[in-house]
Amino acid sequence: MRRESDLGLDADAGRSRGHGFDLAPRLAARERRGLRRNLTPAERVAARTRVAPDPKGGVPDFDSREQLVFAANDYLGLAANERVQAAAADASRQTGTGAGASRLVTGDTRTHRALEREIAETKETARALVFSSGYATNLGVLSALAPDLVFSDELNHASIIDGCRLADTETQVYDHCDPNDLRAMLDRRAHEATGDESWLVVTDSVFSMDGDVAPLEELCAAAEEYGAWLMVDEAHATGLYEAGGGIVQREGLADRVHVQMGTLSKALASQGGYVAGSEMLIEHLLNTARSFIFSTGLTPPAAAAAHKAFQIARDGDWPARLWANVERLRDGLEELGYEVWGETQILPVVVGERETTMTLAERLRERNIIAPGIRPPTVSEGTSRIRVAPMATHTDEEIDRCLAAFRDAGRALDLL
Ligand SMILES: Cc1ncc(COP(=O)(O)O)c(C=O)c1O
Repeated sequence: MRRESDLGLDADAGRSRGHGFDLAPRLAARERRGLRRNLTPAERVAARTRVAPDPKGGVPDFDSREQLVFAANDYLGLAANERVQAAAADASRQTGTGAGASRLVTGDTRTHRALEREIAETKETARALVFSSGYATNLGVLSALAPDLVFSDELNHASIIDGCRLADTETQVYDHCDPNDLRAMLDRRAHEATGDESWLVVTDSVFSMDGDVAPLEELCAAAEEYGAWLMVDEAHATGLYEAGGGIVQREGLADRVHVQMGTLSKALASQGGYVAGSEMLIEHLLNTARSFIFSTGLTPPAAAAAHKAFQIARDGDWPARLWANVERLRDGLEELGYEVWGETQILPVVVGERETTMTLAERLRERNIIAPGIRPPTVSEGTSRIRVAPMATHTDEEIDRCLAAFRDAGRALDLL
């Protein structure tokens, strides 16, 4: 076994000699700015779990107490659903535990094709293509489209921002959810532009930190007026709206959105990302999206789990149960006197000041509620918040326990 000293590492300070990397001061600087992150291992992915302090390289030692999770993106609670688990197990036996190669080599299986058909039908498009993550999807799609110009909402997800960087394209950022600002930018550029340029407007549909919804109809109209394409990231909406679809389906805009993108990793309780659109779009992407071509195909168990979750979301009453929990929790938090933003299943409880927010998150944790504090730079100064995400599998009694914890912790901190 190679020791740290063999690798040129100074074991006591974590410093390296010569042309290596001196990481200790970088970590110390993060620590000083209050930005050092720690992992919190969880025993299982479900509405209730036990957690452990970060064991670093060791094996976690879980608390005896169970915590209620109001922090996951597994909004329908399907990661713990027996039918979804059975679908993953069957695919693992029948198709294989891994894809074994890129989809373009031998990693393209019936399991992938069945999922892609389901996605295309749900998203009302000709075809769909799955990637190994939502992050890889945004990187692949944006760099493969290689627009001359991207118009991007200021609160778009990091994977969209990174996709624009990888595409090495000019990006103009419009004010959050503001079609008038977008229109003004499109108009300015239309007057400046010489020759043919390809323009892409890109937006999340549900914003993960604010829980609000992009005005898709108006964005479509603005993009259409200037002949631009519109790409919508439905990561936090897919599976929760009309027939297992997202906001694009709720608004009836499938034929006006050129690129529907999303993840399999949130309400669909799996892993992976997808893009849905025209035959030509999918053929172009599977020929040119490097994160698709040079990466092993999505694992068959992940594809099968997402497929089953899609069917359950479409046919079952899980979305209705989620919305009932959201209403009970939002009403309860507002009655307590908290300010709750957004209009979706993501409930940002805005506290304002960053230290108080992080203390509130700790006090909730002491009361067995996991709901993370979100502070700058993730959100703007003065809007630090607790991001509360109920799940369809929480019981009424559990929602009430969450409310009681917010009441007691808020009173203890003089917030209420
Ligand atoms: C809006 C949005 N897009 C894309 C992603 C990336 O998806 P994944 O976690 O599947 O890589 C996320 C998730 O973090 C997201 O919130």
